[in-house]
Amino acid sequence: MSEPTDHGRGPSDAPSDAELAELTPRELEQLGYRLDDVEIVDNSPKWPISGTRAEKRAERNVAAWFALSALSGLAFVVIFIVWPWEYRNPGTEGYLLYSLYTPLIGVTFGLSILGLGVGAIAYAKKFFPEDVAVQQRHDGPSPDLERRTAAARLTEAGRTSGIGRRSLIKRTAGLGAGAFGLGTGVLTLGGLLENPWAEGDESPLWVTDWAPHGEKVYLRQDVGDPHEVVRMRPGDMSAGSLVSVFPYKESWSEEKAKEALHHADNPVMLIRLRPGTPVVERKGQTGFNYGDFYAFSKICTHMGCPTSLYESQTQRLLCPCHQSQFLANEYARPVFGPATRSLPQLPITVDDEGYFVAEHDFTRPVGPAFWELDAT
Ligand code: FES
Repeated sequence: MSEPTDHGRGPSDAPSDAELAELTPRELEQLGYRLDDVEIVDNSPKWPISGTRAEKRAERNVAAWFALSALSGLAFVVIFIVWPWEYRNPGTEGYLLYSLYTPLIGVTFGLSILGLGVGAIAYAKKFFPEDVAVQQRHDGPSPDLERRTAAARLTEAGRTSGIGRRSLIKRTAGLGAGAFGLGTGVLTLGGLLENPWAEGDESPLWVTDWAPHGEKVYLRQDVGDPHEVVRMRPGDMSAGSLVSVFPYKESWSEEKAKEALHHADNPVMLIRLRPGTPVVERKGQTGFNYGDFYAFSKICTHMGCPTSLYESQTQRLLCPCHQSQFLANEYARPVFGPATRSLPQLPITVDDEGYFVAEHDFTRPVGPAFWELDAT
Protein backbone atom coordinates (compact mmCIF):
# COMPACT_ATOMS: atom_id res chain seq x y z
CA MET A 1 0.00 0.00 0.00
CA SER A 2 1.37 3.43 -0.91
CA GLU A 3 1.50 6.73 0.93
CA PRO A 4 -1.08 9.45 0.23
CA THR A 5 -0.40 11.70 -2.71
CA ASP A 6 0.74 15.23 -2.02
CA HIS A 7 -2.61 16.72 -3.09
CA GLY A 8 -4.45 14.63 -0.52
CA ARG A 9 -6.89 12.99 -2.97
CA GLY A 10 -5.69 9.45 -2.20
CA PRO A 11 -2.86 7.23 -3.43
CA SER A 12 -2.25 6.68 -7.08
CA ASP A 13 -2.10 2.96 -6.39
CA ALA A 14 -4.98 2.57 -4.00
CA PRO A 15 -5.50 -0.79 -2.30
CA SER A 16 -7.35 -3.33 -4.41
CA ASP A 17 -10.84 -4.49 -3.50
CA ALA A 18 -9.36 -7.77 -2.27
CA GLU A 19 -6.94 -5.92 0.02
CA LEU A 20 -9.73 -3.68 1.31
CA ALA A 21 -11.92 -6.69 2.02
CA GLU A 22 -9.21 -8.01 4.32
CA LEU A 23 -9.14 -4.89 6.48
CA THR A 24 -11.08 -4.56 9.71
CA PRO A 25 -13.28 -1.46 10.22
CA ARG A 26 -10.61 -0.13 12.59
CA GLU A 27 -7.87 -0.54 9.94
CA LEU A 28 -10.11 1.04 7.31
CA GLU A 29 -10.67 3.96 9.66
CA GLN A 30 -6.92 4.39 10.12
CA LEU A 31 -6.40 4.15 6.37
CA GLY A 32 -9.00 6.86 5.91
CA TYR A 33 -7.14 9.17 8.27
CA ARG A 34 -3.90 8.66 6.39
CA LEU A 35 -5.48 9.16 2.97
CA ASP A 36 -7.15 12.35 4.12
CA ASP A 37 -3.98 13.81 5.57
CA VAL A 38 -5.68 13.76 8.96
CA GLU A 39 -3.60 13.80 12.06
CA ILE A 40 -5.39 12.64 15.20
CA VAL A 41 -4.05 14.71 18.05
CA ASP A 42 -6.24 13.19 20.74
CA ASN A 43 -8.77 10.37 20.74
CA SER A 44 -9.80 9.45 24.23
CA PRO A 45 -12.90 7.31 24.85
CA LYS A 46 -15.68 9.02 26.80
CA TRP A 47 -16.03 6.17 29.28
CA PRO A 48 -12.65 4.38 29.68
CA ILE A 49 -14.10 2.34 32.53
CA SER A 50 -17.40 0.91 31.47
CA GLY A 51 -20.37 0.33 33.75
CA THR A 52 -19.77 3.23 36.13
CA ARG A 53 -22.74 4.96 37.76
CA ALA A 54 -22.03 8.11 35.79
CA GLU A 55 -22.13 6.17 32.54
CA LYS A 56 -25.40 4.51 33.52
CA ARG A 57 -26.84 7.91 34.40
CA ALA A 58 -25.79 9.30 31.01
CA GLU A 59 -27.39 6.29 29.34
CA ARG A 60 -30.68 6.81 31.19
CA ASN A 61 -30.63 10.47 30.29
CA VAL A 62 -30.37 9.70 26.57
CA ALA A 63 -32.98 6.95 26.84
CA ALA A 64 -35.38 9.35 28.57
CA TRP A 65 -35.37 11.63 25.51
CA PHE A 66 -36.07 8.72 23.19
CA ALA A 67 -38.81 7.48 25.52
CA LEU A 68 -40.38 10.95 25.51
CA SER A 69 -40.29 10.86 21.72
CA ALA A 70 -41.93 7.42 21.65
CA LEU A 71 -44.69 8.36 24.11
CA SER A 72 -45.41 11.64 22.33
CA GLY A 73 -45.50 9.92 18.92
CA LEU A 74 -47.99 7.33 20.18
CA ALA A 75 -50.07 10.02 21.91
CA PHE A 76 -50.14 11.96 18.62
CA VAL A 77 -51.45 8.94 16.72
CA VAL A 78 -54.18 8.25 19.29
CA ILE A 79 -55.26 11.92 19.51
CA PHE A 80 -55.23 12.34 15.74
CA ILE A 81 -57.54 9.38 15.28
CA VAL A 82 -59.94 9.45 18.24
CA TRP A 83 -60.06 13.01 19.62
CA PRO A 84 -63.34 14.89 18.88
CA TRP A 85 -62.21 17.45 16.31
CA GLU A 86 -65.49 18.68 14.83
CA TYR A 87 -66.33 22.32 15.41
CA ARG A 88 -68.35 23.26 18.55
CA ASN A 89 -69.58 26.72 19.45
CA PRO A 90 -68.04 28.32 22.55
CA GLY A 91 -70.07 27.47 25.64
CA THR A 92 -71.68 24.35 24.13
CA GLU A 93 -71.04 20.79 25.19
CA GLY A 94 -67.76 19.43 23.88
CA TYR A 95 -66.24 22.86 23.16
CA LEU A 96 -63.35 22.36 25.56
CA LEU A 97 -62.32 19.05 23.99
CA TYR A 98 -62.68 20.49 20.49
CA SER A 99 -60.58 23.54 21.36
CA LEU A 100 -57.78 21.31 22.71
CA TYR A 101 -57.50 19.24 19.53
CA THR A 102 -55.12 21.45 17.52
CA PRO A 103 -52.83 22.34 20.45
CA LEU A 104 -52.58 18.68 21.45
CA ILE A 105 -51.65 17.32 18.04
CA GLY A 106 -49.14 20.16 17.65
CA VAL A 107 -47.53 19.60 21.04
CA THR A 108 -47.35 15.79 20.77
CA PHE A 109 -45.95 15.84 17.23
CA GLY A 110 -43.46 18.51 18.21
CA LEU A 111 -42.33 16.62 21.31
CA SER A 112 -41.97 13.46 19.26
CA ILE A 113 -39.46 15.00 16.85
CA LEU A 114 -37.83 17.08 19.60
CA GLY A 115 -37.21 13.96 21.72
CA LEU A 116 -35.61 12.16 18.78
CA GLY A 117 -33.38 15.11 17.93
CA VAL A 118 -32.27 15.89 21.45
CA GLY A 119 -31.72 12.16 22.16
CA ALA A 120 -29.47 11.81 19.11
CA ILE A 121 -27.48 14.93 20.04
CA ALA A 122 -27.20 13.84 23.67
CA TYR A 123 -25.97 10.41 22.59
CA ALA A 124 -23.28 11.92 20.37
CA LYS A 125 -22.17 14.31 23.11
CA LYS A 126 -22.14 11.78 25.92
CA PHE A 127 -20.79 8.65 24.21
CA PHE A 128 -18.84 9.45 21.06
CA PRO A 129 -15.09 9.75 21.67
CA GLU A 130 -13.80 13.27 21.47
CA ASP A 131 -11.42 13.42 18.51
CA VAL A 132 -9.10 16.32 18.14
CA ALA A 133 -7.91 16.17 14.54
CA VAL A 134 -6.10 18.35 12.03
CA GLN A 135 -6.94 17.96 8.34
CA GLN A 136 -5.95 19.74 5.14
CA ARG A 137 -8.98 20.58 2.99
CA HIS A 138 -9.10 19.81 -0.75
CA ASP A 139 -11.55 20.65 -3.53
CA GLY A 140 -13.81 18.31 -5.50
CA PRO A 141 -15.70 15.10 -4.68
CA SER A 142 -14.07 12.26 -2.78
CA PRO A 143 -13.10 9.10 -4.68
CA ASP A 144 -14.83 5.82 -3.92
CA LEU A 145 -12.04 4.60 -1.66
CA GLU A 146 -12.34 7.64 0.58
CA ARG A 147 -16.08 7.23 0.84
CA ARG A 148 -15.58 3.67 2.03
CA THR A 149 -13.05 4.71 4.61
CA ALA A 150 -15.33 7.53 5.78
CA ALA A 151 -18.14 5.01 6.29
CA ALA A 152 -15.71 2.82 8.24
CA ARG A 153 -14.84 5.81 10.40
CA LEU A 154 -18.48 6.28 11.28
CA THR A 155 -18.83 2.57 12.04
CA GLU A 156 -15.82 2.75 14.31
CA ALA A 157 -17.10 5.83 16.09
CA GLY A 158 -20.39 4.04 16.70
CA ARG A 159 -18.57 0.96 17.96
CA THR A 160 -16.32 2.87 20.32
CA SER A 161 -19.35 4.75 21.67
CA GLY A 162 -20.49 1.35 22.92
CA ILE A 163 -23.82 1.33 21.08
CA GLY A 164 -23.68 -2.47 20.85
CA ARG A 165 -24.06 -2.92 24.59
CA ARG A 166 -26.40 -0.01 25.27
CA SER A 167 -29.65 -1.84 24.78
CA LEU A 168 -31.72 0.71 26.74
CA ILE A 169 -30.72 3.46 24.34
CA LYS A 170 -31.16 1.24 21.31
CA ARG A 171 -34.64 0.17 22.39
CA THR A 172 -35.89 3.66 23.27
CA ALA A 173 -34.34 5.17 20.11
CA GLY A 174 -36.07 2.47 18.04
CA LEU A 175 -39.37 3.12 19.81
CA GLY A 176 -39.03 6.88 19.38
CA ALA A 177 -38.18 6.63 15.69
CA GLY A 178 -40.96 4.08 15.17
CA ALA A 179 -43.60 6.19 16.93
CA PHE A 180 -42.50 9.31 15.07
CA GLY A 181 -42.62 7.44 11.75
CA LEU A 182 -46.05 6.08 12.62
CA GLY A 183 -47.26 9.59 13.49
CA THR A 184 -45.91 10.95 10.21
CA GLY A 185 -47.63 8.13 8.31
CA VAL A 186 -50.94 8.74 10.09
CA LEU A 187 -50.62 12.46 9.41
CA THR A 188 -50.04 11.78 5.71
CA LEU A 189 -52.69 9.12 5.27
CA GLY A 190 -55.17 10.36 7.89
CA GLY A 191 -57.23 12.18 5.29
CA LEU A 192 -57.95 8.85 3.60
CA LEU A 193 -59.57 7.34 6.69
CA GLU A 194 -62.93 8.85 5.76
CA ASN A 195 -64.56 8.82 2.35
CA PRO A 196 -65.32 12.48 1.51
CA TRP A 197 -67.79 11.38 -1.19
CA ALA A 198 -69.86 9.06 1.01
CA GLU A 199 -72.91 11.35 0.72
CA GLY A 200 -72.81 11.61 -3.10
CA ASP A 201 -73.97 15.01 -4.40
CA GLU A 202 -74.58 16.15 -0.82
CA SER A 203 -70.96 15.50 0.21
CA PRO A 204 -69.44 18.30 2.29
CA LEU A 205 -66.96 19.37 -0.41
CA TRP A 206 -69.83 20.12 -2.81
CA VAL A 207 -72.41 21.65 -0.43
CA THR A 208 -72.33 24.69 1.87
CA ASP A 209 -74.89 26.34 4.14
CA TRP A 210 -75.82 28.54 1.19
CA ALA A 211 -77.86 25.66 -0.30
CA PRO A 212 -81.51 26.82 0.10
CA HIS A 213 -83.13 23.36 0.40
CA GLY A 214 -86.53 24.99 -0.15
CA GLU A 215 -85.95 27.98 2.12
CA LYS A 216 -84.67 31.51 1.75
CA VAL A 217 -80.98 31.94 2.58
CA TYR A 218 -80.34 35.54 3.59
CA LEU A 219 -76.99 37.33 3.32
CA ARG A 220 -76.23 38.17 6.93
CA GLN A 221 -73.62 40.67 8.01
CA ASP A 222 -71.51 39.64 11.00
CA VAL A 223 -71.64 42.63 13.34
CA GLY A 224 -69.61 40.97 16.09
CA ASP A 225 -72.60 39.90 18.22
CA PRO A 226 -73.74 36.38 17.32
CA HIS A 227 -77.21 37.11 18.76
CA GLU A 228 -77.84 40.04 16.44
CA VAL A 229 -78.96 39.08 12.94
CA VAL A 230 -78.44 41.83 10.37
CA ARG A 231 -79.73 40.94 6.90
CA MET A 232 -78.22 42.90 4.03
CA ARG A 233 -80.19 45.12 1.67
CA PRO A 234 -78.86 46.94 -1.40
CA GLY A 235 -79.17 50.34 0.29
CA ASP A 236 -76.76 49.25 3.07
CA MET A 237 -73.68 49.56 0.86
CA SER A 238 -72.08 52.43 -0.99
CA ALA A 239 -70.56 52.02 -4.45
CA GLY A 240 -67.03 50.58 -4.43
CA SER A 241 -67.41 48.83 -1.05
CA LEU A 242 -67.23 45.28 0.27
CA VAL A 243 -69.03 43.59 3.17
CA SER A 244 -68.40 40.06 4.47
CA VAL A 245 -71.64 38.10 4.73
CA PHE A 246 -72.73 34.68 6.00
CA PRO A 247 -75.78 32.51 5.31
CA TYR A 248 -78.86 32.76 7.54
CA LYS A 249 -82.21 30.92 7.47
CA GLU A 250 -85.17 31.90 9.60
CA SER A 251 -85.77 28.27 10.59
CA TRP A 252 -82.31 27.97 12.13
CA SER A 253 -81.92 27.82 15.89
CA GLU A 254 -79.69 30.43 17.47
CA GLU A 255 -77.05 27.73 17.86
CA LYS A 256 -77.16 26.77 14.19
CA ALA A 257 -77.05 30.43 13.12
CA LYS A 258 -73.97 30.91 15.28
CA GLU A 259 -72.30 27.86 13.81
CA ALA A 260 -72.90 29.20 10.30
CA LEU A 261 -70.67 32.15 11.19
CA HIS A 262 -67.80 29.71 11.79
CA HIS A 263 -68.10 27.14 9.00
CA ALA A 264 -65.02 27.55 6.85
CA ASP A 265 -66.79 27.48 3.48
CA ASN A 266 -69.50 30.06 4.35
CA PRO A 267 -67.82 33.51 4.26
CA VAL A 268 -68.74 35.51 1.17
CA MET A 269 -67.63 38.93 -0.03
CA LEU A 270 -70.58 41.04 -1.13
CA ILE A 271 -69.17 43.71 -3.44
CA ARG A 272 -70.87 46.74 -4.88
CA LEU A 273 -69.05 47.85 -8.01
CA ARG A 274 -68.98 51.49 -8.99
CA PRO A 275 -71.67 52.28 -11.58
CA GLY A 276 -70.40 51.86 -15.14
CA THR A 277 -67.59 49.44 -14.21
CA PRO A 278 -66.98 47.19 -17.24
CA VAL A 279 -67.78 43.60 -16.30
CA VAL A 280 -66.86 40.25 -17.85
CA GLU A 281 -69.19 37.40 -16.88
CA ARG A 282 -68.17 33.82 -16.83
CA LYS A 283 -69.95 31.31 -19.06
CA GLY A 284 -72.57 29.54 -16.95
CA GLN A 285 -72.63 32.33 -14.36
CA THR A 286 -74.63 34.92 -16.28
CA GLY A 287 -77.11 36.68 -14.01
CA PHE A 288 -75.41 35.59 -10.77
CA ASN A 289 -75.16 39.30 -9.87
CA TYR A 290 -77.88 41.69 -8.74
CA GLY A 291 -77.25 44.98 -10.55
CA ASP A 292 -73.82 46.19 -9.42
CA PHE A 293 -73.73 43.67 -6.55
CA TYR A 294 -71.53 40.60 -6.88
CA ALA A 295 -70.91 37.90 -4.28
CA PHE A 296 -67.79 35.73 -4.25
CA SER A 297 -66.50 33.15 -1.82
CA LYS A 298 -63.99 34.74 0.51
CA ILE A 299 -61.94 31.55 0.76
CA CYS A 300 -58.81 31.76 -1.39
CA THR A 301 -58.54 29.00 -3.98
CA HIS A 302 -54.82 28.68 -3.30
CA MET A 303 -54.67 27.50 0.31
CA GLY A 304 -57.87 28.75 1.89
CA CYS A 305 -56.94 32.06 3.54
CA PRO A 306 -59.59 34.78 3.70
CA THR A 307 -59.39 37.01 0.64
CA SER A 308 -60.81 40.27 1.81
CA LEU A 309 -58.76 43.22 0.66
CA TYR A 310 -60.65 45.03 -2.09
CA GLU A 311 -59.05 47.78 -4.12
CA SER A 312 -62.01 49.37 -5.88
CA GLN A 313 -59.93 51.48 -8.31
CA THR A 314 -58.27 48.45 -9.89
CA GLN A 315 -61.02 45.93 -9.00
CA ARG A 316 -58.42 43.70 -7.36
CA LEU A 317 -59.21 41.36 -4.50
CA LEU A 318 -56.04 40.49 -2.63
CA CYS A 319 -55.31 37.43 -0.52
CA PRO A 320 -52.80 38.51 2.14
CA CYS A 321 -51.27 35.05 2.61
CA HIS A 322 -49.35 34.64 -0.65
CA GLN A 323 -50.52 37.71 -2.54
CA SER A 324 -52.89 36.07 -5.01
CA GLN A 325 -55.05 38.68 -6.73
CA PHE A 326 -58.46 38.25 -8.36
CA LEU A 327 -60.46 40.63 -10.54
CA ALA A 328 -63.79 41.47 -8.93
CA ASN A 329 -65.31 42.64 -12.23
CA GLU A 330 -64.14 39.54 -14.12
CA TYR A 331 -65.80 36.70 -12.15
CA ALA A 332 -62.94 36.89 -9.62
CA ARG A 333 -60.48 35.21 -11.94
CA PRO A 334 -56.90 35.06 -10.65
CA VAL A 335 -54.51 37.54 -12.25
CA PHE A 336 -51.49 37.32 -9.96
CA GLY A 337 -49.96 34.95 -7.43
CA PRO A 338 -50.18 31.20 -6.88
CA ALA A 339 -53.99 30.74 -7.05
CA THR A 340 -55.14 29.19 -10.33
CA ARG A 341 -58.92 28.95 -9.84
CA SER A 342 -61.45 31.78 -9.78
CA LEU A 343 -63.23 32.45 -6.51
CA PRO A 344 -66.62 30.70 -6.72
CA GLN A 345 -69.48 33.14 -7.35
CA LEU A 346 -72.68 33.01 -5.31
CA PRO A 347 -75.84 33.73 -7.31
CA ILE A 348 -77.81 36.45 -5.51
CA THR A 349 -81.04 38.36 -5.86
CA VAL A 350 -83.37 40.45 -3.70
CA ASP A 351 -86.61 39.08 -2.23
CA ASP A 352 -89.96 40.84 -2.11
CA GLU A 353 -89.05 42.43 1.25
CA GLY A 354 -85.90 43.94 -0.22
CA TYR A 355 -83.33 41.61 1.40
CA PHE A 356 -80.51 39.91 -0.42
CA VAL A 357 -80.95 36.13 -0.73
CA ALA A 358 -78.90 33.39 -2.40
CA GLU A 359 -80.60 31.83 -5.41
CA HIS A 360 -78.73 28.56 -4.94
CA ASP A 361 -75.44 27.20 -3.63
CA PHE A 362 -72.07 27.81 -5.32
CA THR A 363 -71.73 25.91 -8.59
CA ARG A 364 -68.03 25.22 -7.89
CA PRO A 365 -66.41 23.93 -4.73
CA VAL A 366 -65.12 26.52 -2.28
CA GLY A 367 -61.47 26.76 -1.31
CA PRO A 368 -58.28 25.04 -2.49
CA ALA A 369 -58.35 22.59 -5.38
CA PHE A 370 -58.41 18.85 -4.88
CA TRP A 371 -57.57 16.13 -7.32
CA GLU A 372 -61.08 15.50 -8.67
CA LEU A 373 -61.38 19.15 -9.68
CA ASP A 374 -60.48 20.83 -12.96
CA ALA A 375 -57.94 23.61 -12.66
CA THR A 376 -60.28 26.55 -13.38
S1 FES B 1 -53.89 31.25 0.43
FE1 FES B 1 -54.33 32.93 -0.82
S2 FES B 1 -52.58 33.22 -1.96
FE2 FES B 1 -52.13 31.50 -0.77
